[in-house]
Amino acid sequence: MTHGFQLNQRLVPVVVLERAEDAIPLAEALISAGLQQIEITLRSPVALDGIRQVRERFPEMLVGAGTILDPAVIRQLVDLGVSFGVSPGMDERVLDAAEAAGLPMAPGVMTPSEIDRARSRGLKLLKFFPAETAGGSAMVKALAGPYGHTGVRFIPTGGIDAAKAREYFAMPEVAAVGGSWFVNKKLIADGAFGEIERLTCEALEVAAEYAK
Ligand code: 3PG
Repeated sequence: MTHGFQLNQRLVPVVVLERAEDAIPLAEALISAGLQQIEITLRSPVALDGIRQVRERFPEMLVGAGTILDPAVIRQLVDLGVSFGVSPGMDERVLDAAEAAGLPMAPGVMTPSEIDRARSRGLKLLKFFPAETAGGSAMVKALAGPYGHTGVRFIPTGGIDAAKAREYFAMPEVAAVGGSWFVNKKLIADGAFGEIERLTCEALEVAAEYAK
């Protein structure tokens, strides 16, 4: 199964959507910045509505669902055209449901044993969460020691800002950097979509500096 993400730009915007009407202007801002991918977390009652709106309005945009904690939602996500799923940890029930439905998942890991569990299921694209609290880029580097050669690649997420993102972009084992520093709740609540576009462009430029 493919991983479902768009990894060439190495940036995953992690969005907590509090009002359904923000979904379209937010997606527009990302697209204007040149990013065709969004992860909408299932942390708010309007998340599924937001996913549906973005899928309908921008069918070319890859929409992922984050914070998948409940296997029962997987079928609905697939029906909405979601391309990838992300979870903070590794709930086998969620992974089983996703596998059965054909939804590519990047589950969260932060220890070698969790990476082993993911590998035993054939999963190699893994969210490293909560990245900054769990040791930051130094921890990713340490984990890449024994696992880099196996093809495991990380999406560090959690507490990353524009400056920290550089450290991760510099690492070949980092497939993409995830975060909300350029799409955070306050920017969205303020309707600061121009600023979101500017910060997204900035993040994409930094990622491009480290492109192989
Ligand atoms: C996540 O769900 O992956 C994180 O909460 C996003 O991290 P950030 O908001 O700290 O960037």
